[in-house]
Amino acid sequence: MPDSAQPVTPVTFPPAFLWGAATSAYQIEGAVREDGRTPSIWDTFSHTPGKTAGGETGDIAVDHYHRYRDDVALMADLGLNAYRFSISWPRVQPTGRGPAVQVGLDFYRRLVDELLDRGIKPAVTLYHWDLPQELEDAGGWPERETALRFAEYAQIVGEALGDRVEQWITLNEPWCSAFLGYGSGVHAPGRTEPAATLRAAHHLNLAHGLGTQALRSAMPSRNSVAVSLNSSVVRAVSQNPADLAAARKVDDLANGVFHGPMLHGAYPATLLEATSSVTDWSFVLDGDLRTAHQPLDALGLNYYTPALVSAADAAQESPRADGHGASAHSPWPGADDVAFHQTPGDRTEMGWTIDPSGLHELIMRYSREAPGLALYVTENGAAYDDKVDADGRVHDPERIAYLHSHLAAVRRAVTDGADVRGYYLWSLMDNFEWAYGYGKRFGAVYVDYPTLARIPKSSAHWYGRAARTGELPPPDAA
Ligand code: FCB
Repeated sequence: MPDSAQPVTPVTFPPAFLWGAATSAYQIEGAVREDGRTPSIWDTFSHTPGKTAGGETGDIAVDHYHRYRDDVALMADLGLNAYRFSISWPRVQPTGRGPAVQVGLDFYRRLVDELLDRGIKPAVTLYHWDLPQELEDAGGWPERETALRFAEYAQIVGEALGDRVEQWITLNEPWCSAFLGYGSGVHAPGRTEPAATLRAAHHLNLAHGLGTQALRSAMPSRNSVAVSLNSSVVRAVSQNPADLAAARKVDDLANGVFHGPMLHGAYPATLLEATSSVTDWSFVLDGDLRTAHQPLDALGLNYYTPALVSAADAAQESPRADGHGASAHSPWPGADDVAFHQTPGDRTEMGWTIDPSGLHELIMRYSREAPGLALYVTENGAAYDDKVDADGRVHDPERIAYLHSHLAAVRRAVTDGADVRGYYLWSLMDNFEWAYGYGKRFGAVYVDYPTLARIPKSSAHWYGRAARTGELPPPDAA
C-alpha cells in the first residue's frame, strides 16, 4: 500500500503498546540556577552570542521544573500511558563527579511518583546532551575520563530511581553529541575538530557500555536497558557504484559507528578505512569494544527523515542539505567526497522531508540487526508553524497527518514481524529546539511563551484518542 493511501481497515495496535510522548531536560525544565544546578554545555553554548536563533536559551524553557505536576496531569487527561524524559546531569552531579545533590534527585523522584500515580510508565534517558560544563572544561567527550564519569552518574541515578523506573535509556542520539557537538559545531560545545569527533563517538560508545553495567549493578534485574539512536535511513541517488559507496560511507558514519560497537562489538572495517586520514583510532583501547557491547533489552529508534546522498562531483560545490543546521564545517569526517541532497516530497517546518516509508525501513533493518531486542520508536514528530485561532484553539492537521502516516508505518512493521512495543511522540509540548531556539514547534501541546500557558493542539486530542482506543482515528477526526 503506498504511504499516501488511507488504510481501508482500522489500524489497530497490540493492547500492551505504549503510547508515549518524549521530552528532554534542557529543552523543558528551565530553573537552570536552582537547587544547586550548575551550567551544562548547553547553558554555555546558548549564552554564547550567535550560537542559537535569536540568542535564545533554556533558562526558563517551558518552566517544567515548577509545572511538572500540571504537565503530568495533561498527559493523563489525554490518555497517554508512557512518558520519556531525561535527567539533567548537572542537577544531580553539578561538577560531573562526586556525591549526588539530593534535592536534584528529589525533583525526579517526585516526577516519577506523579507519573506512576497517574498510570503513566516512565522511561528515563540518562544523557540528552547536557554535559556538566566542568567535564567539558576537562576535555569533554573526546576524553576517556568523561565515559568513566558517566558510569558514576548512571550508578547514582540507577540507585535513586531503579526501584520505580523500569525503562532506561543510556544515551540519546550519541551521533548528535559527537558529530554536531565536535564536528560541525552547531550543537554544544560547538567545537569543529574532525579527529575529536571520532574520539567523542568512541567515548560515547564506552560510556554506554560502562553506564549499562552501572545501571545493571544498581537496579533490579527486571528493568530494561536501551540506547536511543538517531539511526539514519541513507539512500543513494542512483545505483551506480560511486553513489552506492557514498551511501555506504554515510551509513558507517551515521549508524555503524554506534551500532557496530554497541550491538556487534566492533567498528565496521569500512568506517576505519574511510576515516584513516582523520585518525588512527589509537584511542580504542583493549577491552573497550567488549565493554561497549553489553547485552541490552531494547533499542530506541528516533526517526524524522531519510538522507539522500551521492558521490560529490569534485568540480561542483557539494550541496549541504544534510538537515543538521548551517555550518561551514561538515559533521562528516572523511566524507568530503559525499554530497547530500534534498529528498523530494512535502517538508515540515524544519525543512525535513516527510517520508513514513523511512520509518518502516529503519524498524525492519534493526529488527534484523538486533534480533531479540524489543524496539521502541523513542522519537518521531514534526514541527509546524502553529498558531492560536480566534477561538483559542490550535488546529494542526498537518501534524495529525504526519503522526497518522508514521504510526501506520510502525503498525506495518509490526505486521511484518518487528517487535515494536511503543511509540513516543516528539514532543509532549513545544520547547527549546536547540540551535533553532523556540521558533520550531514540535509539541502536541502548544506553549504560549509569554504566559507559558499550555494548549493541547488538535493533534494532542487525536493522539490521545489513539492511545485510549489502541486504534488510529482517521486523520480528519481530530
Ligand atoms: C532530536 C532530538 C530532540 C529534538 C528532535 C527534534 O534529534 O533528540 O531533542 O531536538 O530531534
